[in-house]
Amino acid sequence: MAPLDDIRHRFPGLGDGWARFDGPAGTQVLDTAIDAMADWQRSGNNANAHGAFPASHACDALEERTTATMLELLGAESGGIVFGPSTTANLMALTRAVGRTLGPGDEVVCTTLDHDSNVFPWVLAAEDSGATVRMAEFDGGTGRLATGAVADLIGPATRWVAVTGASNVIGTMPDLPAIAEVAHAFGARVVVDGVHRTPHAAVDVAALGCDVYATSSYKWYGPHAGMLWMADDLLDDLPAYKVRPAPTTGGARWQYGTASYEALAGIDVAARFLLDTGMAAIEVHGRDRLRRLLTGLHGLAGVRVVASTGPDDVADRAPTLQFVVEGHTPHEVAGHLAAARVAVWDGHNYAVEAMAPLGLDPEAGAVRAGVSVYTTDEDVDRLVEAVASL
Ligand SMILES: Cc1ncc(COP(=O)(O)O)c(C=O)c1O
Repeated sequence: MAPLDDIRHRFPGLGDGWARFDGPAGTQVLDTAIDAMADWQRSGNNANAHGAFPASHACDALEERTTATMLELLGAESGGIVFGPSTTANLMALTRAVGRTLGPGDEVVCTTLDHDSNVFPWVLAAEDSGATVRMAEFDGGTGRLATGAVADLIGPATRWVAVTGASNVIGTMPDLPAIAEVAHAFGARVVVDGVHRTPHAAVDVAALGCDVYATSSYKWYGPHAGMLWMADDLLDDLPAYKVRPAPTTGGARWQYGTASYEALAGIDVAARFLLDTGMAAIEVHGRDRLRRLLTGLHGLAGVRVVASTGPDDVADRAPTLQFVVEGHTPHEVAGHLAAARVAVWDGHNYAVEAMAPLGLDPEAGAVRAGVSVYTTDEDVDRLVEAVASL
């Protein structure tokens, strides 16, 4: 039996008969992560860091343990972890600090494949500092961001390159090491939005060439929270906006206020689940269901799978796709699927720059379906049948 064949009972939220393809917006939570959060809050250890009594020591130990687990999940041998409420909040904090180091003549390269949380914070930082943002464009036909499209915009003026690890709407994964190599050759730093990559592919921040890597645990079976891995020098030297008593080094330097210890307890368990299951098994599970989903949707008249050449177009893709159905708005399709107890998202899903290249309406976007570890072949067939019945 494959490791994920008997996993659904680990997700109490799946109990009510829905086929859940809304994982890219937030997955169901693992039973042991739920327990860890509840246990923490019942334990009496709810305190704060660096005190002189046991509950405070337990807070310190939890933060150390969760940091170590996150470093392991991201394959990091150095650097540190910043815990925050979300990736958007974390990238706003990062770019606010970076903005203090930028000025007229400096450039930041962003991409049209990215979620807006790795685009607009950079635009705001550039507006504040007089720097310029240049947008690398992906190919709307293939859904791929060519390395050259980014590399062509990188030069001596480039200070930062902000690129997605995987598109949150069509799943495609840019060649990060190749992009990072060009960026680093010009002395630029690389920020990877790994929110949609982390649940689907093994991460090794050094091999990928990241200087900063962002991820959110509610996309991988844990609580609502965001984490940034940052290289040591950035962690300690970037001029973070912080209050005076906050630590002057390490991840805590970037933390706005008291950590959500209950979230840390859940993050630790959810990250351990990915490590124990093995990203290789998760990738195989995702790819197989993606292929089945693509086969079903490509076989339906009047359905266009966005930026997909066919059922075998699964390389370098997280198992996430968008489609549109002739004669129906994406919102109507999502409503029809909901009536069949199939949960999907519709719209642009905050990938606002990606809609035009994909030939989609900027607001209506498309229907998005994402495979999670608990997605079964039966779920896939239910989705395809529900679309067919439109
Ligand atoms: C690729 C990607 N980046 C960033 C975000 C924003 O994450 P958060 O909700 O933690 O701010 C999302 C959320 O959907 C996402 O999919």
